[in-house]
Amino acid sequence: MRVLVLHGPNLNLLGSREPEIYGRTSLSAIDRLIRAWARRTATSVTIHQSNSEGELVDWIQRAASRYDVLVINPAAYTHTSVALRDAIAAVAVPAIEVHLSNPAAREPFRRQSFIAEVAVGQISGFGADSYLLGLEAARAVARRQSAGTARPKRAAVRRRR
Ligand code: DQA
Repeated sequence: MRVLVLHGPNLNLLGSREPEIYGRTSLSAIDRLIRAWARRTATSVTIHQSNSEGELVDWIQRAASRYDVLVINPAAYTHTSVALRDAIAAVAVPAIEVHLSNPAAREPFRRQSFIAEVAVGQISGFGADSYLLGLEAARAVARRQSAGTARPKRAAVRRRR
């Protein structure tokens, strides 16, 4: 299984950024946890972080046929980005949306996710563990796919109509 992990804007500041909300774990510490998980499960994981929407779109586009599952924390772009939503809908790579905090329990503008509709599912509110839970979900999705029992992506369903 090949997993692409994408971290969105401002997540490079984790550790010092609003620690009461996001905790004190730095992004490089989260990446170490992800790599340790990858070693334990013999999974190939590639990780990128960007503050730029276009760069995230480029990585999602390139994920097609290179990765089995995308685990993405779109950060603030969750609530604003039609471009990220469309990129995920355009590629046949199932996406799992993760958040450190629980956006549903925060400001009203965080309750809308442009990504949720095109993701297989969301994991929010568990701090750094959201990524590890997201990776476990990625494994379940990949297993379902290789067993041929995966539900088609919603975007694919829509295209067939
Ligand atoms: C976040 C939640 C978003 O609302 C916020 O803009 C972020 C981080 C999270 O991981 O909790 O930057 O995605």
